[in-house]
Amino acid sequence: MKPIALTGIKPTGRPHIGNYLGMYRPALSLMENYLGMYFVADYHALTSLNDPAMLQSLVYEVAASWLALGLDPEEHIFFRQSDIPEIPEFTWILSCFTSKGLLNRAHAYKAAMDENLALGHDPDEGINAGLFYYPVLMAADILLYGSDVVPVGLDQKQHIEITRDIAEAFNRTYGEVLKVPEGLIQESVMKVPGIDGRKMSKSYDNTIPIFAPEKELRKRVMRIVTDSKRPEDPKDPTNDNLFALLQFFASPERIEEIRQLYVNGGAAYGTLKKELAELILSHFSDAREKFNTLIEDKPYIDKVLMQGAEKAREMGKPYLKAARKATGID
Ligand code: ADP
Ligand code: TRP
Repeated sequence: MKPIALTGIKPTGRPHIGNYLGMYRPALSLMENYLGMYFVADYHALTSLNDPAMLQSLVYEVAASWLALGLDPEEHIFFRQSDIPEIPEFTWILSCFTSKGLLNRAHAYKAAMDENLALGHDPDEGINAGLFYYPVLMAADILLYGSDVVPVGLDQKQHIEITRDIAEAFNRTYGEVLKVPEGLIQESVMKVPGIDGRKMSKSYDNTIPIFAPEKELRKRVMRIVTDSKRPEDPKDPTNDNLFALLQFFASPERIEEIRQLYVNGGAAYGTLKKELAELILSHFSDAREKFNTLIEDKPYIDKVLMQGAEKAREMGKPYLKAARKATGID
């Protein structure tokens, strides 16, 4: 059997080109040599999204994105996290092998705590335990199926390390029961900048959503923040987010030409933004068409996800059984 590549994405916003370059594309490129297990992480979304209608609609958007970008649900396993009842059960078992100190140091929790401290509040104010437990749930996602590799963007690196720690702690206690996975993080696309120059992220409202209507997508690209240099002024391409984004979509020859325009003068931001919008629209033109058809067919998406969940549960059961047996619960 092929090794397993597994990854998930939270339905907390519309998929963007940072997600595409950092996760969707690397994950989908593994489909030839791996069995892909790709899912919509709706339990994870619940730590921050409390609007039921919004959650449901984003689950469909994220699911349709996977399919539109080329996930083959017949050959691979495509599902929704909350359709796997084994996940919360396994999360509990794993939590008993997770040192609390490790979770105290997890980036998302630490960031939320630091924000409170900066405001002079109680460090845990407004922080739900789900956010604290987030890495354990993610470890359950990965370890339940004996995943070999986990393609993710750089921001998920610590979560993969925590997952490995948890698996190793469990194995130290009971022998080699759980497979210790490897993270797969591509250097070149690990941190795609958003339109404001920070990491592109749903939480910063600085994204270029892949499947937004054309007019909106163009508008987002035109809002990319640049400095006030005139076209004829020489510019430094190295720390320029417009240039960084162009690099992901233009041909190598064109990138070189644009680089020269930056260095020698002649790069007009407005014109280059229009070029970037065209490049993005043409890169995703097939996917955007597929997405628009899929998003109108929710019963189809439901069916695909249900079938995927059945397959995923079959994959997970032996691992959960082995873990239960090892602990003495079974
Ligand atoms: P967001 O930060 O927008 O909420 P998620 O946390 O849902 O995105 O991330 C889903 C996947 O996309 C993860 O594997 C993550 O590492 C990757 N990813 C998100 N933003 C970027 C980015 N700007 N550059 C590269 N990869 C990213
Ligand atoms: N935490 C990941 C993110 O924010 C999403 C995720 C949940 C995930 N479970 C996973 C990624 C398991 C890889 C493997 O992007």
